[in-house]
Amino acid sequence: MRYLTFALTKGRLASKTMDMLEKVGITCEEMRDKESRKLIFVNEDLKLRFFLAKGPDVPTYVEYGAADIGVVGKDTLLEEGRRLYEVMDLGFGKCRMCVCGPESARKVLTTNQQIRVATKYPNIAREYFYGRKHQTVEIIKLNGSIELAPIVGLSEVIVDIVETGSTLRENGLKVLEEVCPLSARMVVNQVSMKMEDQRIRGLIADLKKVIE
Ligand code: PRP
Repeated sequence: MRYLTFALTKGRLASKTMDMLEKVGITCEEMRDKESRKLIFVNEDLKLRFFLAKGPDVPTYVEYGAADIGVVGKDTLLEEGRRLYEVMDLGFGKCRMCVCGPESARKVLTTNQQIRVATKYPNIAREYFYGRKHQTVEIIKLNGSIELAPIVGLSEVIVDIVETGSTLRENGLKVLEEVCPLSARMVVNQVSMKMEDQRIRGLIADLKKVIE
């Protein structure tokens, strides 16, 4: 039996994934040591390997087959647009992709003006404004603290993730439009899905039972 390799998104998604896998009898003792600088963890008995990667890199590892299976946010999948199979909504990491800004920006979203949109997700923003709303906008890529952009006058609105809404509230911003709901997804390499059909389908079936 060959190793099945999982690419997990570093941080909260990885811990939640390991909690979920534990419920179907998949554990990885090596991963519990938070001090460790190891990059790859192995469960010899089950012939499984796990590694942690930055979110946007997870679909890359899976598309190229360096990982058979990945766990990553739907936001990252939409933004990266990799060729892979999205096999399951894992039901955690729930949040929304939204257009946000001050209340005063609501009207520029309906008048087809060429506004500026700041975001960490330029592809999602482009698809939403050009593809769905048919509004020509200037998209400005940022790497974090996106809420700053409309406050300091870099852009009229932002496209960003809203979870609890506290970041928006504390900065006088609002959700103006919803782009789509998001959550953690399991993805599978297209060749692995054929070659390791039984093992992967078995895993999906087990996980579905604990998710329900
Ligand atoms: C995300 C997102 C928002 C915030 C939303 O940022 O970009 O800023 O969380 O969460 P809330 O609705 O619960 O306040 P993250 O903390 O990932 O950091 P970033 O600013 O570097 O993207």
